[in-house]
Amino acid sequence: MAKSDIIRQLSEHFRRQNISNVVVLTDENVEKHYPDYFSDLSEDVSVDKIVLPAGEQSKSIETTVQIWQYLADKQCDRNTFLLNFGGGTVSDLGGFVASTYKRGVRYANVPTTLLAMIDASIGGKTGVNLQLLKNAVGTFYFPDIQLPADISFLETLPGEEVLSGFGELVKYALIGSAELFDNLCKMKSLFEIRTEFVDFCINFKQEVVKKDPNDLGVRHILNFGHTFGHALESHAAEIGKPIAHGIAVAQGLYYESRLSMQHGLLPKAEWQRIADFLPKFFLIPEITPDFLEQLLPYMQNDKKNHDGTLNFTLLDRIGHGIPDYAITATELLPLSGLLKEFIH
Ligand code: GLY
Repeated sequence: MAKSDIIRQLSEHFRRQNISNVVVLTDENVEKHYPDYFSDLSEDVSVDKIVLPAGEQSKSIETTVQIWQYLADKQCDRNTFLLNFGGGTVSDLGGFVASTYKRGVRYANVPTTLLAMIDASIGGKTGVNLQLLKNAVGTFYFPDIQLPADISFLETLPGEEVLSGFGELVKYALIGSAELFDNLCKMKSLFEIRTEFVDFCINFKQEVVKKDPNDLGVRHILNFGHTFGHALESHAAEIGKPIAHGIAVAQGLYYESRLSMQHGLLPKAEWQRIADFLPKFFLIPEITPDFLEQLLPYMQNDKKNHDGTLNFTLLDRIGHGIPDYAITATELLPLSGLLKEFIH
């Protein structure tokens, strides 16, 4: 889908809903590349813009207060529409502001990163961080309209950001489509990411969210790769060597696929395909027994776990995930030490 489809769908939506006042929330990076993206919206709509410093530090309650104040100073009422134009930081923060200002105004996301296109911008999870506590304060609040993704944004995205989004994309293939996984296996570089891959992920997530909007069961399937992924991401941040979210997720996909095989769910040949594929794009760290011990507390703190067990999403075949599979810490031990035999 192209920019013209997004502008057309937005213009039609604003006309149908009688919206005349739009506030675009974006960041400095996006503003630098796309300062006039919304200039073709209907002349009946007034557009204001808030440009935030780029980066996760903007996803704070302090920035939220500043945006609330900006909207109040501009006398924005409940008919104001917030347009979040950026990556996950902008859509999480903007969605949170939209859900709280005047007890809720309408909003939409125009995601500019691959990660936001296929994950953060869909499904109504909004929130801000409390210092180091990620997404500690937030709401479920759904966008008024789900817009198509414009993958031409990827042309101005740093390679590491595309790779991070690709980690999430591989996740969707593993939990939802063997055919998509076959297509990903044919890719030689990230420049071969296609709109239909992105559209599959968006549709898949929308269907899952429809069944479980409040993330109480079925939606946990989207956490595949994330139990290990979050632990690796938090550990890396704590030792001062941060890694991008989707890259940590890709590493988590590797270990959680292996766990699926070890538990007799995923056939060995399918595990082998995953083990061959992921290291072509991602560096997979070795998990020694010592490293596993360091990761465990992060996994045990995960809010999705109960009764001392760890709740994983696992695979029983490529293209099919099983949410909430309980595993004890001891059952993770075979993942460490023996790893070398599986790396080529
Ligand atoms: N990112 C996973 C979810 O939205 O549930």
